[in-house]
Amino acid sequence: MRKAIFPGTFDPLTNGHLDLIRRATRLFDEVIVAILVNPGKAPLFSIEERMALLEEVLSPEFSPEFAGVRVDCFSGLLVEYARRQGAQTILRGIRSSQDYEYEWPMIWMNRRLDPELETLLLVASEETSGISSSLLKEVFRLGGSIDGLVPDPVLKRMKERA
Ligand code: PNS
Repeated sequence: MRKAIFPGTFDPLTNGHLDLIRRATRLFDEVIVAILVNPGKAPLFSIEERMALLEEVLSPEFSPEFAGVRVDCFSGLLVEYARRQGAQTILRGIRSSQDYEYEWPMIWMNRRLDPELETLLLVASEETSGISSSLLKEVFRLGGSIDGLVPDPVLKRMKERA
């Protein structure tokens, strides 16, 4: 069984993430979307809220493409989590060369920690390549429109919060 981990903060889940997860489902039998539990950060949504939103959006009811997707959360080293899950691949999304610069040390370090684990970089679609969770949070906070940048349930939850 081809199993991959798509790790991230997902605060919040964006249409850019959805594009990448869709691409991943065509390559792997199971894609585990794993939210990092990071007590150091002050997130917009708590881990429980992010788990609930991801489970709602990444469900076969939302889109049949997500039948092979599972949502989970993890803390500690990503390579150890991947090993526990029996995954052979870590998936990360690339929107630009800047993303590659950010990813490179992590790829290097993860390979050093576990040479058996492969990192696969998925290239974002042209339509979603400008979407950034932190930027859209700022725009939303300042009253700008983020319609079409996040899934509807995420936008609804953000509006309830505002
Ligand atoms: O969405 P993000 O914030 O860019 O995701 C970063 C993430 C979760 C992939 C990275 O911070 C991570 O893997 N954290 C887990 C702890 C770990 O293994 N650190 C060493 C990475 S080389």
